[in-house]
Amino acid sequence: MRFLLDREEITVSVVGLGYVGSCVAASLAGDGVDVVGVDVNTRLVEEIRAGRCHLREPGLPEALARAHGAGRLRVTTDFAAISDTDVVVVAVGTPIGEDGVLAESQVRSAAAEIGRCLRPGQLVIFKSTVPPGTTRDLVVPLLEGGGLVCGRDFGVAYCPERLSQGSALAEIRELPVVVGGWDAHSGAAAERFWRSRLRVRTVACSSIEAAETVKLLNNWWIDHNIALANELARYCSSIGVDAMEVIAATNRVPKGGGSINVLSPGVGVGGSCLTKDPWMLWRSARDRGVHLNTVVAAREANDAMPAYVAGLIADGVGELGTPVQRARVAVLGLSFKNNTGDLRSTPTLPVVAALRDAGADVAVYDPLVPPEEISGTFGLDPSPTAEKAVAGADCLAVLAWHDEFADLDLAALRTLTAPDCLFLDGRAHFDSQTVESLTGLGFTYRGIGR
Ligand SMILES: NC(=O)c1ccc[n+]([C@@H]2O[C@H](COP(=O)([O-])OP(=O)(O)OC[C@H]3O[C@@H](n4cnc5c(N)ncnc54)[C@H](O)[C@@H]3O)[C@@H](O)[C@H]2O)c1
Repeated sequence: MRFLLDREEITVSVVGLGYVGSCVAASLAGDGVDVVGVDVNTRLVEEIRAGRCHLREPGLPEALARAHGAGRLRVTTDFAAISDTDVVVVAVGTPIGEDGVLAESQVRSAAAEIGRCLRPGQLVIFKSTVPPGTTRDLVVPLLEGGGLVCGRDFGVAYCPERLSQGSALAEIRELPVVVGGWDAHSGAAAERFWRSRLRVRTVACSSIEAAETVKLLNNWWIDHNIALANELARYCSSIGVDAMEVIAATNRVPKGGGSINVLSPGVGVGGSCLTKDPWMLWRSARDRGVHLNTVVAAREANDAMPAYVAGLIADGVGELGTPVQRARVAVLGLSFKNNTGDLRSTPTLPVVAALRDAGADVAVYDPLVPPEEISGTFGLDPSPTAEKAVAGADCLAVLAWHDEFADLDLAALRTLTAPDCLFLDGRAHFDSQTVESLTGLGFTYRGIGR
């Protein structure tokens, strides 16, 4: 088979224009590739056509608008557009249902639609995170439903997306792309594609299943490592030791070709991937009679953090003389991680809910999240400014740190708070110097494990 992608000028379709698909489409178009984006969501397609983007990813709205304006990115709900492209990249959503089972509907419908439009010589690159075996056993048979045969008429490769929100566009060009091909021919073609178009390094796996497992191991490791940091933080708190000091010293030990790399403790783990992928892996293992204890332990440790943080706040304001049921708490940063405006599975929600349940008056502010999304998720109208949120507060809790907050004048905010005010650092963000200056301003500082 001769792949169509082995030509100077190629066209790529990207199926699924959510977080991942939009970033991939904008990056390829930005590098001069003609891209057709296909999504079933009419509103999303119209939004991109109108030069708008609801995703709060640094640089993404501008990159999409530029690509669309330059005529490099076309978007449509019509799958027929795929037929005219040389490579088809698939990045539809892969949520899980009860017990970690993949909710297959997006994968099924996308693969069946693509199958109906495939033509000889095309390469289908599947990026969505799935339980190992899904590409071979579910996706490829659906692609073949249109009559062509995988490996003979068209190629398939699985290339997981490993970008993290907040730095997605940079990571798309920096992280090596893992490639597992249906056969050696497909794998090699996918490697040529990523190397020549985005100029990224590739890592070849010997099978699709190995590449699928790489993605799940990535997020298993991250979730597990954060759980380690969170449990360490709780322990350090109990013995009066600064967890960040312990982590920094520990991380200086060389190990396994790099060094020990314990991540930072925080208010909990959220987002669409780390809360889902470990369970997807756990379920896949359980179906084969393998019990992954560490997945369960890590998920439980991380899921326990919001209640722990709400407890720190309640205890902290109580010690300063205001019982939580009479306290006013200002929360700055609501998204699931620093520097994104994504509220999906954000751990800040259970913190706010627990405080409100305890009777606290909670004000919330996040400049990266549209106010209507905050109202919809939190059932609270957000404060328009940090100053308004902080007015009269017994606690200022930073639960997600955004670069925009660097401009906040903490001394000025302090003049607006209650006379005694707890400063809760929910992201282990502040270094010891800043902690000292916060204390100098009269805040009572508390961090997780600090
Ligand atoms: N968000 C992340 O940071 C991230 C990072 C790495 C990997 N991933 C993985 O990448 C995949 C996509 O994630 P996402 O966050 O972009 O999801 P998303 O929910 O933001 O986007 C999925 C998109 O696919 C569209 N879609 C659904 N069914 C379709 C169909 N049949 N045909 C065409 N389009 C369809 C939806 O309308 C939506 O726009 C998932 O498997 C996810 O686990 C996500």
